[in-house]
Amino acid sequence: MAFGAIMSIPDGERTISLAPFTREESLEFISPGMQQLKVTKYLSRHTAPVQDDEYEWYDKVRKASDQIVWGIWIEKDGTRELIGNTTLLGVTYSHTNQATSGIQINKPEYWGQGIASLAHKARTWYAFEVMGLHRIKSAVIQGNIASLKALEKVGYTHVYTERNDVFVDGVLRHTDKLELLNPSELSWQLWWGDETPTEAAVSARVRTQEALKWARNTLDV
Ligand SMILES: CC(C)(COP(=O)(O)OP(=O)(O)OC[C@H]1O[C@@H](n2cnc3c(N)ncnc32)[C@H](O)[C@@H]1OP(=O)(O)O)[C@@H](O)C(=O)NCCC(=O)NCCS
Repeated sequence: MAFGAIMSIPDGERTISLAPFTREESLEFISPGMQQLKVTKYLSRHTAPVQDDEYEWYDKVRKASDQIVWGIWIEKDGTRELIGNTTLLGVTYSHTNQATSGIQINKPEYWGQGIASLAHKARTWYAFEVMGLHRIKSAVIQGNIASLKALEKVGYTHVYTERNDVFVDGVLRHTDKLELLNPSELSWQLWWGDETPTEAAVSARVRTQEALKWARNTLDV
């Protein structure tokens, strides 16, 4: 499995691409990237990775049979820059097909430009319409407002809260556990069966349907 296929998203004068990256290119994530607390504090890690850690991670990802990883690239004026990555981990095909999503933009100068929001839409399309997943899970440490907002916009909803899960910026923080359901009739029926879906799930379904429609019309794959 390892890397996902290329998805390009027009974004004004630039293109955001979700695409594979090489072992050498993966070093972009850590210098300074993940060596800065402002980048990692909501990722539940207290250590700064170095080159060997990054290579180890890369080699593991490349061979993994239950992960899909994309680099997040900015392409502009004939140049391309690797600014982060987004993942589907623990991909399981069983009685239901599921994975857990993640994202990190390792260069803070690119935060707040809508890049995570675009990446979530593209990754969601890939998960549901290419991979046939029924459900994607995620988790956000409370206080990571941008992350929660970006996920909710594509249709993730709250499932439960893990209290006092981590310690960030001097206080104990709860972690919100989220889920995103495949809105197709077939998958919706499989997931809910004879039960009545929650109101939150019904309105989130509309947001996910809109995201998928956008992806079908916009992505260059
Ligand atoms: C969290 C992260 C992925 C967000 O990426 P991003 O590209 O900056 O997010 P977007 O620009 O798409 O913003 C998403 C929403 O959050 C809002 N937002 C952005 N920064 C914000 C901030 N500091 N405070 C409040 N809202 C913020 C945006 O306005 C947008 O909402 P809108 O569409 O209603 O305007 C990025 O900050 C990051 O990689 N952080 C480090 C690693 C991390 O925390 N990963 C997520 C772990 S769950």
